[in-house]
Amino acid sequence: MKTVQDYIRTIPDFPKKGIQFRDVTTLFADPRGFRMAVDQLLHPFMGAPIDLVIGLEARGFILGGAVAHQLGKGFVPVRKKGKLPGKTIEQAYALEYGEAVVELHDDAIKAGQRVLIVDDLLATGGTAEAGIKLVERLGGVVAGCAFVVDLPDLGGRKRLEDMGHAVHVLCEYE
Ligand code: PRP
Ligand code: ADE
Repeated sequence: MKTVQDYIRTIPDFPKKGIQFRDVTTLFADPRGFRMAVDQLLHPFMGAPIDLVIGLEARGFILGGAVAHQLGKGFVPVRKKGKLPGKTIEQAYALEYGEAVVELHDDAIKAGQRVLIVDDLLATGGTAEAGIKLVERLGGVVAGCAFVVDLPDLGGRKRLEDMGHAVHVLCEYE
């Protein structure tokens, strides 16, 4: 039987020379692959006390929306700066290949709400850490972080675990 990883393709030198881009569009496009990925992502959190699912732009929206639907919870986006229409809080972070700022609506999470953070890929952990900080600044509690792909050499998993967070990943690329 095919695994989630079997549906992911690697594009060399995107978006910059030297980056092996792990492309999940081929996973999302396959009905078996997509269902397998969503089911495996949410599996450890079924029945857990979670109030909301947060998706990190952009591929985290696709996965997070499906996970939220399946868990019967609401979905909240963390977006790149300038995209959310309401009042926001913002957090800067560094990427494997650049810098960015992400935002969250300042009324999107109520103090004490427990959130599951979902994205396609964990590299340095900068994006996820920025999302975690936004949630925690609003008084939310991060119940877990779930990713399809981990790049362990870039240290993101250790970074989040050292912050005390539960990290769930479906596959790794060395
Ligand atoms: C990718 C990926 C994660 C992030 C991981 O998104 O989808 O969100 O990088 O990298 P990190 O762990 O080093 O922070 P990208 O920034 O390319 O944005 P996009 O999904 O909007 O294309
Ligand atoms: N985001 C950061 N690094 C990445 C990679 N190697 N492949 C896909 N998305 C990424």
